[in-house]
Amino acid sequence: MGRLRKYIIGICTIAVVGLLGAACFFFWPHRLPEVQTSKSQLTGAELIARGEYLTVAADCAACHTTKGGKPFAGGLAFKLPFGTIYSPNITPDNTVGIGDWSDAEFVRAMRSGIGKHGEDLYPAFPYTSYALLSTNDILAIRAYLTTLAPVSEPAPENALAFPFNQRPLMRGWKLLFVPRGPFEPDLGKGKMWNDGAYLVEALAHCGECHTPRGLMFQRKQGVALSGGDVDGWKAWNITSDKEYGLGNWSDDQIAEMLSAGHAKDRGVAAGPMREAIDLSLSKLPKSDIDAIVAYLRTVPAVAGDPDLMAVRRKDEELTAVSTQVSSVTQRGKRIYAGACASCHGWNGEGQFNPRAAILGGHALSDPTASNVVRVVLQGSSDHEAAPGKIMPAFAKIYSDEDVAALANYVVEHFSGQAGTVTAEQVSTAR
Ligand code: HEC
Ligand code: HEC
Ligand code: HEC
Repeated sequence: MGRLRKYIIGICTIAVVGLLGAACFFFWPHRLPEVQTSKSQLTGAELIARGEYLTVAADCAACHTTKGGKPFAGGLAFKLPFGTIYSPNITPDNTVGIGDWSDAEFVRAMRSGIGKHGEDLYPAFPYTSYALLSTNDILAIRAYLTTLAPVSEPAPENALAFPFNQRPLMRGWKLLFVPRGPFEPDLGKGKMWNDGAYLVEALAHCGECHTPRGLMFQRKQGVALSGGDVDGWKAWNITSDKEYGLGNWSDDQIAEMLSAGHAKDRGVAAGPMREAIDLSLSKLPKSDIDAIVAYLRTVPAVAGDPDLMAVRRKDEELTAVSTQVSSVTQRGKRIYAGACASCHGWNGEGQFNPRAAILGGHALSDPTASNVVRVVLQGSSDHEAAPGKIMPAFAKIYSDEDVAALANYVVEHFSGQAGTVTAEQVSTAR
């Protein structure tokens, strides 16, 4: 897109959001909601246990705990095009945490993205999904968070450019894009399907990453789950589309991918998905994973944006293909021989470690190699993996030109397509 066009779209977006913001200033329900739990709400230790399960399934820790930081003390940076915001401390500390919040204030934050003092919260906090949670469940999460150790360190202050630091601008946006009420089960479908829908749409907020976004950063629900972008990582199409999505995967392959981060003949999930699996999905009971699979099976097939999402390789083509290496990727092949083949093997089937079996992975058949570039730069592993069992980060070792040549080689070797990565793109990804 031309610079000028981007600029004009940016200005128009700001103007529209601003106008809507002004118009809706008085209408957005900032009043505190009445919080009423239903008769089925648990009490005592059962309530805390339910809250802990929900907090894991909703993956609150992914954003509210920094690597090596105290649990739920916040401080994780979210770099947006117009500045940086930090996740707040949600431990029960009375001054810098949410210890002195009322239940109603907590419910309002989760449903309407509103802070204790009525301030509008940015949708980097996925209340657009959590709005679908039941009041019982929101209060169970609250009850669990109350049992944590309070941490008295405040999170850093946000640094956003004007006009994005004007929180009321969010009001118009929220009026348009935040669901109005909790999830309503579809009585025509069974319990398993409804459990899966609740997990995918509300708790595990898959759409926050896997649904494409429009110019106003809203999720395009008409093409839900057809593939999104997370800091440059491609969160693949997970609709039932056969070419782009999960249509040709077996139930077992999807379940394996979700609970372990790798699946036979489907490669591995790295980056943000690895994190979601590590902290959340791998800890869910098998019945939840099965429910998610049952629901995903019924998500209408959408091919999505062909510029963004790559077609997968067909199952029958599943072998490393390139015999001849083009002159452009010779340099990549040399690097692969020295730095990668020891773990991944020339055939991509993984040596000594099933997690290193990358053959069949969607990332490898994407000519833009977005995820390959990022995994090479940043590495990928779970929190407990032994050194040697992980994908190391190579950002400090290789130049932009090296990484581009390597990524193009990997795509060519494993999918037979010509990679299109340039050194400039690698530099942006750093
Ligand atoms: C994808 C990242 C992400 C996830 C997942 C997430 N949050 Fe947040 N949360 C944020 C960010 C960022 C903010 C700050 C938003 C702002 O400043 O406008 C926030 C704000 C909040 C606030 C408002 C706190 C305050 O001081 O105003 C609460 C409460 C909260 N989150 C609770 C939760 C709970 C409970 C969960 C899990 C159910 C959760 N969050 C999951 C990113 C996340
Ligand atoms: C924080 C963002 C994020 C969330 C939340 C998330 N995903 Fe992902 N997911 C990704 C990314 C990024 C990838 C690509 C990983 C890679 O290529 O290594 C991915 C990959 C996948 C894959 C493998 C697809 C393929 O073609 O190889 C499946 C299946 C999947 N996600 C399902 C889900 C489901 C179901 C949920 C919710 C329960 C979910 N994801 C939640 C970001 C996310
Ligand atoms: C020490 C072993 C090791 C080395 C060396 C290594 N990797 Fe990996 N790699 C892994 C493991 C393990 C995973 C799976 C990561 C996970 O499960 O989080 C992986 C994942 C990947 C993926 C999958 C990404 C995706 O999104 O699907 C690619 C591509 C990859 N590695 C390429 C490379 C390249 C290129 C090199 C050489 C620069 C390399 N690896 C070096 C162990 C290694």
